[in-house]
Amino acid sequence: MPVDNCPRCQGSGWIFKTLDEQEVVIRCTCDEETRAERFALRSGIPPLYENASTENFVLPKDNPIAHRSLASVMLTVRTYAREFPVVDKPGLLLIGETGVGKTHLAVAALNALIQRGFEGVFFDYQTLLDRIRSGYDRSSGSMDKEAYRLALDCEILLLDDLGAHRVTDWVEDTVASIITHRCNHRKPVIVTTNLPAPGRESNKAKDSLSDRIGARAWSRLNEMCKLIEMPAIDDFRVRGRR
Ligand SMILES: Nc1ncnc2c1ncn2[C@@H]1O[C@H](COP(=O)(O)OP(=O)(O)OP(=O)(O)O)[C@@H](O)[C@H]1O
Ligand SMILES: [Mg+2]
Ligand SMILES: [Zn+2]
Repeated sequence: MPVDNCPRCQGSGWIFKTLDEQEVVIRCTCDEETRAERFALRSGIPPLYENASTENFVLPKDNPIAHRSLASVMLTVRTYAREFPVVDKPGLLLIGETGVGKTHLAVAALNALIQRGFEGVFFDYQTLLDRIRSGYDRSSGSMDKEAYRLALDCEILLLDDLGAHRVTDWVEDTVASIITHRCNHRKPVIVTTNLPAPGRESNKAKDSLSDRIGARAWSRLNEMCKLIEMPAIDDFRVRGRR
């Protein structure tokens, strides 16, 4: 979309130019120049994370072990965002306890990709399901097409807090269909979750991610995403910038 008040094209998107003594019409560059800005505006990134980047990701100073492991995670995310799409796996799966910086790093990657001209969309998992469900119309069998379509087809999807939800067949099917579709089309997802990978549950009573989203979706996520297990550190919301 061209810029409304662009001084070169007056918002038409086109410029007249003389080439070989002939008047031709060329495309104005204002469209390209504002691409990242426009993508940022409609990315759905919550205000709290708007400015999240790997540059403002603070490493704990008082704990050398936590410092080292968190630095390594941060660098993995930074490298992914710089090298995408020339990467082994097109997506990221960040697993860890609450408040350790998963959403911050996931959005940091998304923000960096948007700056590079990719289109990324943030969805909180619960909100996405609610939107799809509230738009679900039993009589016609149709759903909130907009949210569902966006989750299926946007260039890069960030699914925050995957699995933070009771399971029903409907949820399992919906998640599986989104992940399967994206996997089949090699469309990246960046995922955060509090749930452990199957076999990594510290307490057997706790569900794994596979228990919540279904084995098929889990299998595809694995294929598609680089797995990042966050170190066990104190909750940033509690510890602050120590
Ligand atoms: N290392 C860090 N440096 C700077 N800010 C951080 C860091 N870790 C977390 N934060 C900030 O702390 C808050 C909580 O972090 P975040 O939301 O990323 O945690 P989370 O791992 O996603 O937790 P949850 O599982 O509860 O969703 C956010 O405001 C985030 O920007
Ligand atoms: Mg989070
Ligand atoms: Zn223009």
